[in-house]
Amino acid sequence: MITVNDLRFSYGNGPAVDGVSFTVSAGEIFGLLGPNGAGKSTTIHLIGGVLSPAGGEVRLDGGDPKRPATRRRLGVAPQTLSLYEGLTGEENCAFFGRLNGLSSKLLKERTARAIDLAGLTDRARDRVSAYSGGMKRRLNLAVALIHDPPILLLDEPTVGVDPQSRNHLFDSIEALRGEGRAILFTTHYMEEAQRLCDRVAVMDHGKIMDSGSVDGLIARHGGPSVVEVEGLDRSFAVEPLEGTRNGDLCRFETPNPMIVLQALADRKAAYTGLRIHRADLETVFLNLTGRRLRD
Ligand SMILES: Nc1ncnc2c1ncn2[C@@H]1O[C@H](COP(=O)(O)OP(=O)(O)OP(=O)(O)O)[C@@H](O)[C@H]1O
Ligand SMILES: [Mg+2]
Repeated sequence: MITVNDLRFSYGNGPAVDGVSFTVSAGEIFGLLGPNGAGKSTTIHLIGGVLSPAGGEVRLDGGDPKRPATRRRLGVAPQTLSLYEGLTGEENCAFFGRLNGLSSKLLKERTARAIDLAGLTDRARDRVSAYSGGMKRRLNLAVALIHDPPILLLDEPTVGVDPQSRNHLFDSIEALRGEGRAILFTTHYMEEAQRLCDRVAVMDHGKIMDSGSVDGLIARHGGPSVVEVEGLDRSFAVEPLEGTRNGDLCRFETPNPMIVLQALADRKAAYTGLRIHRADLETVFLNLTGRRLRD
Protein backbone atom coordinates (compact mmCIF):
# COMPACT_ATOMS: atom_id res chain seq x y z
CA MET A 1 0.00 0.00 0.00
CA ILE A 2 0.97 3.62 -0.54
CA THR A 3 1.26 6.04 2.36
CA VAL A 4 2.00 9.69 1.71
CA ASN A 5 2.34 12.05 4.63
CA ASP A 6 2.59 15.85 4.40
CA LEU A 7 4.54 15.67 1.15
CA ARG A 8 6.16 18.92 -0.05
CA PHE A 9 8.13 19.88 -3.12
CA SER A 10 9.02 23.02 -5.06
CA TYR A 11 10.79 23.42 -8.44
CA GLY A 12 11.91 26.82 -7.19
CA ASN A 13 8.93 28.91 -8.24
CA GLY A 14 6.53 28.32 -5.36
CA PRO A 15 5.22 25.01 -4.03
CA ALA A 16 4.22 22.38 -6.63
CA VAL A 17 3.18 19.90 -3.92
CA ASP A 18 2.12 21.55 -0.71
CA GLY A 19 1.41 19.23 2.24
CA VAL A 20 -0.19 16.26 0.48
CA SER A 21 -1.32 13.25 2.55
CA PHE A 22 -3.25 10.13 1.57
CA THR A 23 -3.15 6.35 1.61
CA VAL A 24 -3.96 3.84 -1.11
CA SER A 25 -4.77 0.31 0.04
CA ALA A 26 -4.32 -2.99 -1.78
CA GLY A 27 -7.29 -3.68 -4.05
CA GLU A 28 -8.15 0.00 -4.34
CA ILE A 29 -8.07 2.57 -7.15
CA PHE A 30 -7.34 5.99 -5.69
CA GLY A 31 -7.75 8.94 -8.05
CA LEU A 32 -5.92 12.25 -8.01
CA LEU A 33 -8.29 14.60 -9.84
CA GLY A 34 -7.06 18.06 -10.72
CA PRO A 35 -6.53 20.51 -13.58
CA ASN A 36 -3.26 21.14 -15.45
CA GLY A 37 -0.51 22.15 -13.08
CA ALA A 38 -2.30 20.89 -9.94
CA GLY A 39 0.76 18.87 -8.91
CA LYS A 40 -0.40 15.37 -9.86
CA SER A 41 2.71 14.33 -11.82
CA THR A 42 5.02 15.87 -9.24
CA THR A 43 3.27 13.76 -6.59
CA ILE A 44 3.79 10.66 -8.76
CA HIS A 45 7.52 11.51 -9.20
CA LEU A 46 7.89 11.93 -5.42
CA ILE A 47 6.18 8.59 -4.73
CA GLY A 48 8.28 6.86 -7.37
CA GLY A 49 11.49 8.25 -5.87
CA VAL A 50 12.34 10.18 -9.08
CA LEU A 51 12.19 13.42 -7.08
CA SER A 52 13.14 13.78 -3.41
CA PRO A 53 10.60 15.50 -1.17
CA ALA A 54 11.52 18.79 0.49
CA GLY A 55 9.32 17.68 3.36
CA GLY A 56 7.11 14.80 4.40
CA GLU A 57 7.39 11.11 3.72
CA VAL A 58 6.45 8.37 1.25
CA ARG A 59 6.15 4.73 2.27
CA LEU A 60 5.45 1.84 -0.08
CA ASP A 61 4.35 -1.20 1.91
CA GLY A 62 6.24 0.46 4.76
CA GLY A 63 9.49 0.84 2.76
CA ASP A 64 11.39 3.83 1.39
CA PRO A 65 10.91 4.22 -2.40
CA LYS A 66 14.61 5.06 -2.76
CA ARG A 67 15.54 1.49 -1.71
CA PRO A 68 15.85 -0.86 -4.72
CA ALA A 69 13.93 -3.64 -2.96
CA THR A 70 10.99 -1.28 -2.36
CA ARG A 71 11.20 0.15 -5.85
CA ARG A 72 10.79 -3.28 -7.38
CA ARG A 73 7.33 -3.40 -5.78
CA LEU A 74 6.33 -0.41 -7.86
CA GLY A 75 5.15 -0.14 -11.47
CA VAL A 76 4.95 3.31 -13.07
CA ALA A 77 3.16 4.32 -16.28
CA PRO A 78 4.40 7.90 -16.70
CA GLN A 79 2.41 10.69 -18.35
CA THR A 80 5.25 11.18 -20.85
CA LEU A 81 5.34 7.86 -22.70
CA SER A 82 8.37 5.80 -21.79
CA LEU A 83 8.75 3.58 -24.88
CA TYR A 84 11.28 2.87 -27.58
CA GLU A 85 9.62 3.69 -30.90
CA GLY A 86 12.11 1.63 -32.90
CA LEU A 87 11.43 -1.56 -30.91
CA THR A 88 8.34 -3.74 -31.14
CA GLY A 89 5.80 -3.93 -28.30
CA GLU A 90 7.22 -7.25 -27.22
CA GLU A 91 10.81 -5.96 -27.33
CA ASN A 92 9.87 -2.96 -25.18
CA CYS A 93 8.41 -5.31 -22.55
CA ALA A 94 11.52 -7.50 -22.73
CA PHE A 95 13.85 -4.50 -22.39
CA PHE A 96 12.10 -3.18 -19.26
CA GLY A 97 11.72 -6.71 -17.89
CA ARG A 98 15.48 -7.28 -18.13
CA LEU A 99 16.11 -3.94 -16.42
CA ASN A 100 14.01 -5.32 -13.59
CA GLY A 101 16.13 -8.48 -13.49
CA LEU A 102 13.61 -10.97 -14.88
CA SER A 103 14.91 -14.36 -16.07
CA SER A 104 14.30 -15.30 -19.74
CA LYS A 105 11.57 -17.78 -18.84
CA LEU A 106 9.73 -15.37 -16.60
CA LEU A 107 10.22 -12.62 -19.15
CA LYS A 108 8.42 -14.59 -21.86
CA GLU A 109 5.54 -15.45 -19.55
CA ARG A 110 5.13 -11.93 -18.21
CA THR A 111 5.46 -10.28 -21.61
CA ALA A 112 2.67 -12.46 -23.00
CA ARG A 113 0.49 -11.64 -20.01
CA ALA A 114 1.10 -7.89 -20.02
CA ILE A 115 0.61 -7.66 -23.79
CA ASP A 116 -2.62 -9.63 -23.47
CA LEU A 117 -3.90 -7.41 -20.67
CA ALA A 118 -3.16 -4.38 -22.83
CA GLY A 119 -5.06 -5.99 -25.73
CA LEU A 120 -2.01 -5.84 -28.01
CA THR A 121 -1.44 -9.53 -28.74
CA ASP A 122 -2.13 -9.06 -32.48
CA ARG A 123 0.33 -6.15 -32.72
CA ALA A 124 3.03 -7.34 -30.30
CA ARG A 125 5.56 -7.85 -33.11
CA ASP A 126 4.98 -4.47 -34.77
CA ARG A 127 7.26 -1.53 -34.12
CA VAL A 128 5.86 1.03 -31.68
CA SER A 129 6.36 3.75 -34.32
CA ALA A 130 3.46 2.12 -36.22
CA TYR A 131 1.13 2.15 -33.18
CA SER A 132 -1.76 4.58 -32.70
CA GLY A 133 -1.71 6.91 -29.69
CA GLY A 134 -4.14 4.64 -27.85
CA MET A 135 -1.99 1.55 -28.51
CA LYS A 136 1.10 3.36 -27.20
CA ARG A 137 -0.77 4.25 -23.98
CA ARG A 138 -1.79 0.62 -23.58
CA LEU A 139 1.80 -0.55 -24.14
CA ASN A 140 2.96 2.07 -21.60
CA LEU A 141 0.73 0.27 -19.07
CA ALA A 142 1.95 -3.19 -20.15
CA VAL A 143 5.58 -2.13 -19.62
CA ALA A 144 4.73 -0.89 -16.11
CA LEU A 145 3.34 -4.34 -15.26
CA ILE A 146 6.18 -6.45 -16.55
CA HIS A 147 7.73 -7.21 -13.14
CA ASP A 148 4.30 -7.92 -11.58
CA PRO A 149 4.37 -5.03 -9.08
CA PRO A 150 1.74 -4.91 -6.31
CA ILE A 151 1.71 -1.09 -6.42
CA LEU A 152 0.93 0.91 -9.57
CA LEU A 153 1.26 4.62 -10.34
CA LEU A 154 -0.68 5.51 -13.50
CA ASP A 155 -0.20 9.13 -14.55
CA GLU A 156 -3.01 10.12 -16.95
CA PRO A 157 -3.08 6.66 -18.52
CA THR A 158 -5.97 7.54 -20.84
CA VAL A 159 -4.83 10.93 -22.13
CA GLY A 160 -5.24 11.26 -25.90
CA VAL A 161 -6.76 7.84 -26.49
CA ASP A 162 -9.83 6.91 -28.53
CA PRO A 163 -12.97 5.70 -26.71
CA GLN A 164 -12.23 2.06 -27.54
CA SER A 165 -8.72 2.16 -26.06
CA ARG A 166 -10.08 4.07 -23.10
CA ASN A 167 -12.62 1.36 -22.36
CA HIS A 168 -9.96 -1.28 -22.77
CA LEU A 169 -7.68 0.58 -20.35
CA PHE A 170 -10.51 0.87 -17.82
CA ASP A 171 -11.17 -2.87 -18.01
CA SER A 172 -7.45 -3.59 -17.60
CA ILE A 173 -7.12 -1.27 -14.61
CA GLU A 174 -10.19 -2.83 -12.99
CA ALA A 175 -8.72 -6.30 -13.57
CA LEU A 176 -5.49 -5.15 -11.87
CA ARG A 177 -7.50 -3.91 -8.89
CA GLY A 178 -9.24 -7.31 -8.81
CA GLU A 179 -5.81 -8.90 -8.39
CA GLY A 180 -5.38 -6.89 -5.19
CA ARG A 181 -2.97 -4.23 -6.41
CA ALA A 182 -2.89 -0.73 -4.93
CA ILE A 183 -3.46 1.71 -7.81
CA LEU A 184 -2.87 5.46 -7.85
CA PHE A 185 -4.48 7.00 -10.94
CA THR A 186 -4.32 10.64 -12.00
CA THR A 187 -6.72 12.38 -14.34
CA HIS A 188 -8.25 15.73 -15.15
CA TYR A 189 -11.43 14.07 -16.43
CA MET A 190 -14.06 13.95 -13.73
CA GLU A 191 -16.02 11.28 -15.66
CA GLU A 192 -13.01 8.96 -15.40
CA ALA A 193 -12.56 9.55 -11.70
CA GLN A 194 -16.27 8.98 -11.18
CA ARG A 195 -16.32 5.79 -13.22
CA LEU A 196 -13.13 4.13 -12.01
CA CYS A 197 -12.01 5.29 -8.58
CA ASP A 198 -12.98 3.87 -5.20
CA ARG A 199 -11.79 7.09 -3.63
CA VAL A 200 -10.87 10.43 -5.16
CA ALA A 201 -8.72 13.32 -3.94
CA VAL A 202 -9.51 16.71 -5.45
CA MET A 203 -6.19 18.46 -6.03
CA ASP A 204 -5.48 22.08 -6.92
CA HIS A 205 -2.37 24.29 -6.54
CA GLY A 206 -0.41 21.48 -4.89
CA LYS A 207 -2.98 20.83 -2.19
CA ILE A 208 -5.63 18.20 -1.63
CA MET A 209 -8.86 20.06 -1.03
CA ASP A 210 -10.74 16.95 0.16
CA SER A 211 -10.80 13.22 -0.50
CA GLY A 212 -13.22 10.35 -0.13
CA SER A 213 -15.70 8.29 -2.13
CA VAL A 214 -17.34 10.09 -5.04
CA ASP A 215 -20.70 9.92 -3.24
CA GLY A 216 -19.11 11.24 -0.04
CA LEU A 217 -17.50 14.17 -1.87
CA ILE A 218 -20.76 15.00 -3.63
CA ALA A 219 -22.66 14.80 -0.34
CA ARG A 220 -20.15 17.13 1.36
CA HIS A 221 -19.52 19.64 -1.42
CA GLY A 222 -22.01 19.06 -4.23
CA GLY A 223 -24.91 21.05 -2.84
CA PRO A 224 -28.50 20.00 -3.51
CA SER A 225 -29.81 18.29 -6.63
CA VAL A 226 -32.36 20.16 -8.69
CA VAL A 227 -35.57 18.62 -10.07
CA GLU A 228 -37.31 20.64 -12.78
CA VAL A 229 -40.87 19.70 -13.70
CA GLU A 230 -42.54 21.21 -16.73
CA GLY A 231 -46.29 21.61 -17.14
CA LEU A 232 -46.99 20.35 -13.65
CA ASP A 233 -50.66 20.06 -12.72
CA ARG A 234 -51.72 23.39 -11.12
CA SER A 235 -53.43 21.51 -8.28
CA PHE A 236 -50.06 20.13 -7.13
CA ALA A 237 -48.84 22.25 -4.22
CA VAL A 238 -45.08 22.73 -4.57
CA GLU A 239 -44.56 24.59 -1.30
CA PRO A 240 -44.56 21.54 1.04
CA LEU A 241 -41.58 20.23 -1.00
CA GLU A 242 -39.95 23.65 -0.86
CA GLY A 243 -40.48 24.02 -4.60
CA THR A 244 -41.03 27.20 -6.58
CA ARG A 245 -43.33 27.74 -9.53
CA ASN A 246 -42.32 30.08 -12.36
CA GLY A 247 -44.85 30.04 -15.18
CA ASP A 248 -44.89 26.53 -16.60
CA LEU A 249 -41.76 25.44 -14.76
CA CYS A 250 -41.53 24.13 -11.20
CA ARG A 251 -38.14 23.83 -9.52
CA PHE A 252 -37.25 21.74 -6.46
CA GLU A 253 -33.86 21.92 -4.74
CA THR A 254 -33.44 18.79 -2.69
CA PRO A 255 -30.70 16.60 -1.23
CA ASN A 256 -32.69 13.61 -2.53
CA PRO A 257 -34.54 13.90 -5.88
CA MET A 258 -36.36 10.64 -5.16
CA ILE A 259 -38.47 12.44 -2.55
CA VAL A 260 -39.86 14.74 -5.23
CA LEU A 261 -40.39 11.90 -7.71
CA GLN A 262 -42.13 9.85 -5.05
CA ALA A 263 -44.46 12.77 -4.23
CA LEU A 264 -45.31 13.16 -7.93
CA ALA A 265 -46.01 9.44 -8.20
CA ASP A 266 -48.04 9.27 -4.95
CA ARG A 267 -50.25 12.13 -6.08
CA LYS A 268 -50.49 10.84 -9.68
CA ALA A 269 -49.51 14.38 -10.74
CA ALA A 270 -49.70 15.18 -14.46
CA TYR A 271 -46.69 16.88 -16.07
CA THR A 272 -45.15 17.26 -19.53
CA GLY A 273 -41.42 17.22 -18.79
CA LEU A 274 -39.00 16.20 -16.05
CA ARG A 275 -35.27 16.86 -15.57
CA ILE A 276 -32.98 15.96 -12.70
CA HIS A 277 -29.64 17.74 -12.29
CA ARG A 278 -27.54 15.83 -9.80
CA ALA A 279 -24.35 17.37 -8.47
CA ASP A 280 -21.20 15.70 -9.86
CA LEU A 281 -17.46 15.97 -9.28
CA GLU A 282 -17.41 19.07 -11.48
CA THR A 283 -19.74 20.77 -8.98
CA VAL A 284 -17.58 19.49 -6.13
CA PHE A 285 -14.48 20.97 -7.76
CA LEU A 286 -16.23 24.27 -8.37
CA ASN A 287 -17.42 24.49 -4.77
CA LEU A 288 -14.00 23.53 -3.36
CA THR A 289 -11.87 25.80 -5.55
CA GLY A 290 -14.20 28.48 -6.92
CA ARG A 291 -13.14 27.42 -10.44
CA ARG A 292 -14.33 24.96 -13.05
CA LEU A 293 -12.19 21.90 -13.67
CA ARG A 294 -11.92 22.73 -17.37
CA ASP A 295 -11.08 26.42 -17.42
N1 LIG B 1 10.32 20.46 -14.44
C1 LIG B 1 9.66 21.50 -13.96
N2 LIG B 1 10.28 22.70 -13.72
C2 LIG B 1 9.63 23.74 -13.19
N3 LIG B 1 8.31 23.72 -12.85
C3 LIG B 1 7.64 22.57 -13.06
C4 LIG B 1 8.27 21.41 -13.63
N4 LIG B 1 7.36 20.42 -13.71
C5 LIG B 1 6.20 20.93 -13.23
N5 LIG B 1 6.38 22.21 -12.84
C6 LIG B 1 5.34 23.10 -12.22
O1 LIG B 1 4.86 22.45 -11.06
C7 LIG B 1 3.47 22.55 -10.94
C8 LIG B 1 2.82 21.17 -10.89
O2 LIG B 1 3.06 20.51 -12.13
P1 LIG B 1 2.64 19.01 -12.38
O3 LIG B 1 3.25 18.60 -13.68
O4 LIG B 1 2.95 18.20 -11.19
O5 LIG B 1 1.06 19.15 -12.53
P2 LIG B 1 -0.02 18.12 -13.11
O6 LIG B 1 -1.16 18.14 -12.16
O7 LIG B 1 0.63 16.82 -13.39
O8 LIG B 1 -0.47 18.82 -14.48
P3 LIG B 1 -0.92 18.16 -15.87
O9 LIG B 1 -2.39 17.84 -15.72
O10 LIG B 1 -0.70 19.25 -16.86
O11 LIG B 1 -0.08 16.96 -16.14
C9 LIG B 1 3.02 23.42 -12.13
O12 LIG B 1 2.92 24.74 -11.69
C10 LIG B 1 4.15 23.23 -13.12
O13 LIG B 1 4.24 24.38 -13.94
MG1 LIG C 1 0.77 15.67 -15.03
